[in-house]
Amino acid sequence: MTTSPSGQLVEALKDAHAMEVNAFEDLESMIATTSDREFRAALEAHRRQTYEHARRLEERLADHGEEASSAKDLGGTLKATAKAFGDELRDAKPVKNARDGYAAEHAEIGAYALLEQIAVRAGDARTASVARENRRDEEAMAAWIADRWDHFVDLTLDPGTRAA
Ligand SMILES: [Fe+2]
Repeated sequence: MTTSPSGQLVEALKDAHAMEVNAFEDLESMIATTSDREFRAALEAHRRQTYEHARRLEERLADHGEEASSAKDLGGTLKATAKAFGDELRDAKPVKNARDGYAAEHAEIGAYALLEQIAVRAGDARTASVARENRRDEEAMAAWIADRWDHFVDLTLDPGTRAA
């Protein structure tokens, strides 16, 4: 199916926004199941970035006369998700959270690379710039995780079997 550059752009913006809303909720789950302070702090920082990413996309959608569910609603998911996970789950999932986080960042990187190209073709320089800006944060988060695979494995092992 072919479509006009601006129609394609609105679809790509909506997809990216839905992706960020999902990412925000996934981050909530990961935060609730992560007790390692450094990893948890990184996830919390990235959750703040994710909120900002969604907000920027909403601005771009509004400029095209489209509405998305507001990033303001995202905060409401926090308590419900945190409640759903007991403390006993903490430490059980650092490796899975790292793997899933790494995969999610790369899906986001791909989505923003495409959004940037679509925006360029539609003549929307501001959306192209938002796509680049958001993508930089996703790349930084993926790189942060990739620097620590050994640390994530250590978190799942008894202290005596950890890497020196
Ligand atoms: Fe992300």
